Amino acid sequence: MYLHPEFETLSRSEIKDLQLKRLKDTVRHCMNSPFYRQRFADNNLTPEDICSLEDLQKIPFTTKQDLRDTYPFGMAAVPLEKCTRLHSSSGTTGNPTVILHTEKDLQEWAKAVARCLYMVGLRPNDVFQNTSGYGMFTGGLGFQYGAEHLGMLTVPAAAGNTKRQLKFITDFGTTAIHAIPSYAARLHEVMESMGIDPARDTKLKTLVIGAEPHSEAQRKRIEEMLGVKAYNSFGMSEMCGPGVAFECTEQNGLHIWEDYYIVEIINPDTLEPVPDGEVGELVLTTLNREAMPLLRYRTRDLTRILPGECPCGRKHVRLDRMKGRSDDMIILKGVNIFPIQIETVLLQFPELATDYLITLETVDSNDEMTIEVELNQLFTDDYARLQSLTRDITRVIKDEILVTPRVKLLPKGSLPQSEGKAVRVRDLRKPY
Ligand code: COA
Ligand code: AMP
Ligand code: ZN
Repeated sequence: MYLHPEFETLSRSEIKDLQLKRLKDTVRHCMNSPFYRQRFADNNLTPEDICSLEDLQKIPFTTKQDLRDTYPFGMAAVPLEKCTRLHSSSGTTGNPTVILHTEKDLQEWAKAVARCLYMVGLRPNDVFQNTSGYGMFTGGLGFQYGAEHLGMLTVPAAAGNTKRQLKFITDFGTTAIHAIPSYAARLHEVMESMGIDPARDTKLKTLVIGAEPHSEAQRKRIEEMLGVKAYNSFGMSEMCGPGVAFECTEQNGLHIWEDYYIVEIINPDTLEPVPDGEVGELVLTTLNREAMPLLRYRTRDLTRILPGECPCGRKHVRLDRMKGRSDDMIILKGVNIFPIQIETVLLQFPELATDYLITLETVDSNDEMTIEVELNQLFTDDYARLQSLTRDITRVIKDEILVTPRVKLLPKGSLPQSEGKAVRVRDLRKPY
């Protein structure tokens, strides 16, 4: 039942004791990072000021902006030669973010992912197929190493090419898949078109779904469509990637591994802790990271700690499924996008005016982004020029955000004028 009983069966007080020990070690280790050394000095703090878990409140929050400002290696707490991997966010506008890992970090990450997969019943005789993008997307290598650590035959199918995914599923006897929820719907659509019945033609039983918000109703629908049990998986690159919080077989909230993280929920406006059980922004402190420990990192994800104990017996607290974000980040096809990235690209084109509208919608079972943007001058009769401009804009935006938008050029004055702050993003995506 437990892959790591020594951590999964800890009582609340044992968890707190372990957290305090690891917090003190982490804070001391952070003094090797130029960023945290300066932060502590600026706030007249020393590691000796952190004597209890409550003392964590003395430490200022760390933000994504801090990661951008220290790009690429300013947060590192070990010499670069000790690091063996980095992951980076998309984008060239402003600074992307970089996350560094030592060999030990990678081993711990693989163990955390394996613990999650074991918790939902996966074992070495399972065949695990991963439909995440590999490369910089942490869902790729993160699940790969975690599933291998568990000893499963692991199929690094990567994103896209759905017919080939289905061939793998049927030919290799795939029993478990990792997919984002919207892609699970796409898998089902293509299965139907190929006459594949998941119950008759596949051995699928488990789906790991994460990387984008989804409702309980969506989970149920996916479970019915594919004839699987679907477990919510939460993670983020800043915390390694997948393996941060995961549902157990009770499917009632995501256990966050408190031997790896200290959890706080704050009001994103006042930055004060919210009362127990209320929704707020998730703030995480890493407890065993070598290359790049993060103290009180503002994730911008909105959730709450579920009250009560889980019938599975684990005492690690459970997060409710994510309710959204406290910033304007969009998640499309499992890819994180900030509207400012798109705006910055549009501004590079002198032919364009400043008004634009991003629409996210579901076309068949694919989530798509349409960007309508107004032209500066009227040359709508010059069809060839418009076509080539559309192509250029599409290509540069794809390079920036990694997904392909549909770009529509409009005559000036066509977009609806809104009072006050212009509405830049409409999300019309339909639940499947
Ligand atoms: N996972 C797996 N496959 C995906 C996907 C996703 N999140 N989103 C789209 N796809 C598939 C599409 O279904 C399509 O394949 P098909 O036509 O055979 O069904 C193919 O990828 C291309 O999709 P398209 O929407 O035309 O491409 P795009 O240029 O807009 O997006 C992707 C490019 C798919 C490569 C990019 O969105 C991606 O890498 N997404 C995965 C991100 C990820 O893994 N996130 C998880 C982090 S834990
Ligand atoms: P990335 O750093 O690319 O892995 O993206 C991390 C972000 O994806 C998180 O901060 C969340 O906003 C989102 N995310 C990851 N897992 C989930 C999930 N299970 N439900 C909702 N959102 C998620
Ligand atoms: Zn549980």
